[in-house]
Amino acid sequence: MYTANPSRYSTMRYNRLGKSGLKLSALSLGLWHNFGDVDSIHNMKALITKAFDLGITHFDLANNYGPPPGSAEKNFGRILKEELSAYRDELIISTKAGYTMWEGPYGDFGSRKYLLSSLDQSLKRLGLDYVDIFYHHRPDPDTPIEESMLALDSAVRQGKALYVGLSNYNKAQTKAAYAILRELKTPFVIHQPSYSILNRWIEKDGLKDYAHDIGIGLIAFSPLAQGMLTSRYLTGIPEDSRAGRGVSPFLTRNQITQEQLAVIAKLNDIAAQRGQSLAQMALSWVLREGGVASVLIGASKVSQLEENIRCLDNTAFSAEELKAIDQAVAGK
Ligand SMILES: NC(=O)c1ccc[n+]([C@@H]2O[C@H](COP(=O)([O-])OP(=O)(O)OC[C@H]3O[C@@H](n4cnc5c(N)ncnc54)[C@H](OP(=O)(O)O)[C@@H]3O)[C@@H](O)[C@H]2O)c1
Repeated sequence: MYTANPSRYSTMRYNRLGKSGLKLSALSLGLWHNFGDVDSIHNMKALITKAFDLGITHFDLANNYGPPPGSAEKNFGRILKEELSAYRDELIISTKAGYTMWEGPYGDFGSRKYLLSSLDQSLKRLGLDYVDIFYHHRPDPDTPIEESMLALDSAVRQGKALYVGLSNYNKAQTKAAYAILRELKTPFVIHQPSYSILNRWIEKDGLKDYAHDIGIGLIAFSPLAQGMLTSRYLTGIPEDSRAGRGVSPFLTRNQITQEQLAVIAKLNDIAAQRGQSLAQMALSWVLREGGVASVLIGASKVSQLEENIRCLDNTAFSAEELKAIDQAVAGK
């Protein structure tokens, strides 16, 4: 049985989610990839326990993570039981529903029927009585937003989630959802959008400022652009990488273009001048100025966690560095 590193809380930063009472570790670990039944349970255990030893308290899941869908929750549930059961109250465990999970009209999007049955299934796979955060994974254009929000509220009232969150909602959609959740006094504390040096839609859309204005926290997913903002692809496409393994339709070999590599090489030089690896700089950039509470990373190797955590050594940027990063992204 695993025993946690006694000094795990001494080096990590814990940021409050907006105006709520809940703090998250500045780095969170996501189980979208590398935790399915196709992956090694030995490596999964090593990743989870190393993350916890480094002070990461927040683990992010969804009903459909795997493959096959559901297997990441099942494997995490096993690791919790076998290694981390003594630490449940030191962990924030999130799950979501919103993408296709089972066949027929009730296994997708945002109906009350889908969200609440999916949460029950997730709790069974995880072996838990409750999750800390339950998210609606994406907006549903066809279900009234009141119905989806009331389902999130019910999850809390039923004791199956402590807090709720939204993911992939833009500012206008978040505003509509917030009006309902505020009236219901639902503990809506977090929003999970994508955000990185290469993907800044939350700035343009106004979501980043809006989240701050209404006092909820942001957690940025894919802050490393799925590995592009690391040394992974600087000298080719390794066979064991996400793009090389062909495991994701969202990061294929074709996306690693010469133009993209030229941008990444420039960003790598700027990182080196700051005394950071590219991965560290990419995470520091998202955490700069405190506008984002936590960066939600993925990892396939323990060494990646060890490298990434050290982004916290330098999250300040000079105006010149920020400008150089913007120019590199613009291909200048
Ligand atoms: N809400 C949503 O719709 C949504 C969508 C996507 C993701 N998410 C959440 O966000 C989490 C993170 O997403 P992501 O995995 O795309 O995040 P990411 O942190 O941008 O990419 C993680 C990948 O980058 C590579 N990597 C990480 N650190 C590295 C390092 N130091 N050096 C070299 N390569 C490194 C690894 O890929 P290799 O396999 O190549 O080693 C790793 O799996 C997910 O697990 C999930 O919880 C949510």
